Amino acid sequence: MSEAVAIEEGGLADLPAVMTVMETAFDPCFGEAWTASQCAGLLPLPGVWLSVARIGDEAVGFALARAIAGEAELLLLAVRPDAQGRGVGKSLLNHFFRESLTRGADHLHLEVRDGNDAIKLYTRLGFSIVGRRRNYYNGRDGQQYDALSLAKTAASLQPQ
Ligand SMILES: CC(C)(COP(=O)(O)OP(=O)(O)OC[C@H]1O[C@@H](n2cnc3c(N)ncnc32)[C@H](O)[C@@H]1OP(=O)(O)O)[C@@H](O)C(=O)NCCC(=O)NCCS
Repeated sequence: MSEAVAIEEGGLADLPAVMTVMETAFDPCFGEAWTASQCAGLLPLPGVWLSVARIGDEAVGFALARAIAGEAELLLLAVRPDAQGRGVGKSLLNHFFRESLTRGADHLHLEVRDGNDAIKLYTRLGFSIVGRRRNYYNGRDGQQYDALSLAKTAASLQPQ
């Protein structure tokens, strides 16, 4: 997989490939992954978009997001483990920034499990930790995990 990453708008037809990425990227222990029916239910709603990262013909990552009334939320970001560490996540995040601006959003936010290494990527690309949601994720064996709320505003919205 030495080809360049292409980020394309996705739809319901991409869900099987997205679910393959989801199931391999997220540790099932923490309850962060969504089901196919949760994704399928959200996709048709106003302001929601799916970005699929491809290397050649293969879907290696995706981002699911929505923008409403000047605010955009990154709902999910994942890259297949064998494609991680090559800039795919960063490309998806920069695409999310550009798409949010195009859709008129100047305030971005997301929730991420406290302790998820993705926090390093988000803060490197301009997000700040603005809050904590206790017991946000329902993990395996009844365990719950806090989420951190991260935000990024117009002043730092240019892709990096
Ligand atoms: C988070 C995730 C999407 C990052 O994707 P990726 O393609 O590996 O990230 P990139 O290769 O684009 O890395 C971009 C930068 O973030 C850093 N980074 C990425 N993942 C990191 C990690 N786990 N720990 C530390 N730094 C990390 C990289 O070092 C890189 O920094 P650089 O630009 O200075 O070199 C991927 O690890 C993943 O799918 N994780 C599981 C799902 C998940 O937890 N998603 C986030 C919550 S929704």
